[in-house]
Amino acid sequence: MAWRWLPWLLGACTGLALLLLQSAMQSGKVPRNVQPEVRFQAMPTFVLKHNSKAGGTFSRTLLKAVFKFNPSKKALWKIIDDDNALFPNDKKKNFVAVLMRNPCAWNVAWANECPTKAWDFGRPTFAANPLGPMGYLERHTTDTELRNWMLNARSPEGLGVISFYLWQSMVCPKCWGWHRKVKEGLNPKEGEHCNSSHRAQQDMAVMNPQSLAHCWIFQETLMEDMRVCLTAFEASHPAAADSVRWDLFEKAAANQSGEALFFERDWSVARWAAPSLQYRRHKPCEEHFRDPAMRQIVRQSDAHLFEKFGYSDCCAPSSREIW
Ligand SMILES: *[C@@H]1O[C@H](CO)[C@@H](O)[C@H](O)[C@H]1NC(C)=O
Ligand SMILES: *[C@@H]1O[C@H](CO)[C@@H](O)[C@H](O)[C@H]1NC(C)=O
Repeated sequence: MAWRWLPWLLGACTGLALLLLQSAMQSGKVPRNVQPEVRFQAMPTFVLKHNSKAGGTFSRTLLKAVFKFNPSKKALWKIIDDDNALFPNDKKKNFVAVLMRNPCAWNVAWANECPTKAWDFGRPTFAANPLGPMGYLERHTTDTELRNWMLNARSPEGLGVISFYLWQSMVCPKCWGWHRKVKEGLNPKEGEHCNSSHRAQQDMAVMNPQSLAHCWIFQETLMEDMRVCLTAFEASHPAAADSVRWDLFEKAAANQSGEALFFERDWSVARWAAPSLQYRRHKPCEEHFRDPAMRQIVRQSDAHLFEKFGYSDCCAPSSREIW
């Protein structure tokens, strides 16, 4: 009787073994989101570059809670907020971590949560905000609304707004706020090159994420990447060691990216910003990008973000192979 089951049993065993091997290989893959062996001569500050709608509000609350009190005058950590630029000099004496997100999911978040921002920069765009003068909707955007928003928010030459935002805030920070300054009659130091979408395209094509930060934090794997960055920060100088309350960090990490902590007093402000609560704020990315034509729009307008940051597809997490 038993031999009749033998082929089935063998098949099942082989299948299971392959499955286990595959998952072991996947989980054994070490993220390479941090520069190896970062060391400073003097005590660094942990600088987080907050980029709009990439987990910044959540991260700010997290850092505020997990960094220990520092008796010296030197700040243990600081945030460069979403409306300020990160300059190359910031990296010389500080440990710099930057928030990043899948370009498709990022467009969905902007279209739903800060649609007017794309026009507030004052740069020439393809067309006006299709969501109307105020721009905000009391519901999730439809596919058509998202498509029109993404198309209109591009430069006339087709550079996506997220690419422009990152170019202006990190790749070419001298140009930060250039259009707004011109509009306000401030006569900015930098010249016409800040108005060149072609130049921004070229800069993004040769941009190297390794030179912009010591560590990248991907919104899709925020807690894991944050852990890697904080660990590297602690190792970067003897005085930085033991800066983090790891017990609290791990408590937050264990509970769906830390929502549990949001129910405590200090956390209530940023409760809405927890990554796993975002479905309440907009339609899931996958639903918006079922149509290949939708994926193609982001592929073209934010092309370099996919390739430079390990995003193989719309809505997928990054391979995190930066170093
Ligand atoms: C920026 O360039 C566009 C052409 O792409 C031009 O129409 C516009 O006037 C320029 N803006 C400024 C402030 O120079
Ligand atoms: C996770 O958070 C929820 C909501 O705050 C809480 O009810 C639950 O007890 C927490 N779980 C753990 C394991 O801390």
